[in-house]
Amino acid sequence: MSPASQVNIAVIGAGGVGKCFLSQLQGLAARKPSPKLNLVYIATSRKALYNENFAPIDVGSAIDSLASSSKAPHALPATVDYLSGSPHPVVLVDNTSSQDVAALYPSFLSKGISVVTPNKKAFSGSYKLWQDIFSAASSSGAKVYHESSVGAGLPVISTLNELIDTGDKVTKIEGVFSGTMSFLFNSFAPVAGQGGKWSAEVKKAQSLGYTEPDPRDDLNGLDVARKLTILARIAGIPVESPESFPVQSLIPKALESCSSGDEFLEKLPEFDSQMEEVKAEAERAGKVVRFVGSIDVASKSVKVGLEKFDASHPIAALQGSDNIINFYTERYGSNPLIVQGAGAGGDVTAMGVTGDLLKVLRQIS
Ligand SMILES: NC(=O)c1ccc[n+]([C@@H]2O[C@H](COP(=O)([O-])OP(=O)(O)OC[C@H]3O[C@@H](n4cnc5c(N)ncnc54)[C@H](OP(=O)(O)O)[C@@H]3O)[C@@H](O)[C@H]2O)c1
Repeated sequence: MSPASQVNIAVIGAGGVGKCFLSQLQGLAARKPSPKLNLVYIATSRKALYNENFAPIDVGSAIDSLASSSKAPHALPATVDYLSGSPHPVVLVDNTSSQDVAALYPSFLSKGISVVTPNKKAFSGSYKLWQDIFSAASSSGAKVYHESSVGAGLPVISTLNELIDTGDKVTKIEGVFSGTMSFLFNSFAPVAGQGGKWSAEVKKAQSLGYTEPDPRDDLNGLDVARKLTILARIAGIPVESPESFPVQSLIPKALESCSSGDEFLEKLPEFDSQMEEVKAEAERAGKVVRFVGSIDVASKSVKVGLEKFDASHPIAALQGSDNIINFYTERYGSNPLIVQGAGAGGDVTAMGVTGDLLKVLRQIS
């Protein structure tokens, strides 16, 4: 296959991450004249911008033009057909959290369309979808990267792949994989002692925009379980789904049926004593409690939930809403390789996506 002199970019999703990605794409296209990067399709769930003949869309004004566009997006299967008619190689950038878009990755890939995405859904859904994605990519030669699906722009997936590909033996992965949980526990149970009441910290996190609009969507642990599913599969454990291993939910049973996030927050103080006891028990052992995910590779065990750590442990010393991921491997011995930093935010997440696009470009141009 001769190297491509032009690559067409199709973007689905133009929210927080999508907008930052477009801004980074504009900078990349200006800095990197070859291959020529042309934005040819951009869509949200309601609107789209494209030209039937794949004429490029101006990246700098794409968001404004999309807002005033009267075109509806193609139905998703028709998007596969449309993009497969491109005269140049295509990279699909999925900046949604849509399961429907994720379910079509095998179709895109089998038509030679590469995929880069921060969307966790495809890689943490059924194991069959995971297998279909990678077998479609290996048959067609199209590429698929999803660095930002774990730890946003932090080099988590690329680090794990490199450890494995260079022949190291990863024994355990352990970390704080949620900015929300990081913020909550760093302020509820700081290493220096004290900390606020659990319900007050949850309310504060919500008002600062650290939680989903309904905080139960963070406290149920599923988001962390999805990230662990992805890493476990890369580490060679065929995890069936994020529901197939133990995940501790921090939603009191009695509040699972609250009809809204507001009702949940109103009733949460009634359960503060439970979390106070968890904190006190850790303190009695000279430790602090944190919400972590871990993968023990040898025993193929994956779990998500509360664990206690010595104050000197890097997981205990985390600050703000940072993520931390510790890779224990044969080469690194008892001092793990640690990746740490912001695990959320439009710019850093888009950085992971743009980095993935660069990896694809290096291989096809
Ligand atoms: N934000 C972060 O810090 C962060 C960190 C790590 C990973 N991520 C991941 O990055 C992705 C994007 O996050 P975000 O914060 O940018 O989300 P967002 O602000 O909610 O934006 C999502 C975008 O996707 C579009 N969309 C949703 N379903 C669609 C569909 N079926 N077809 C076409 N467009 C669709 C939405 O369009 P409408 O408005 O028309 O629905 C919107 O433009 C998610 O997978 C998220 O998990 C985000």
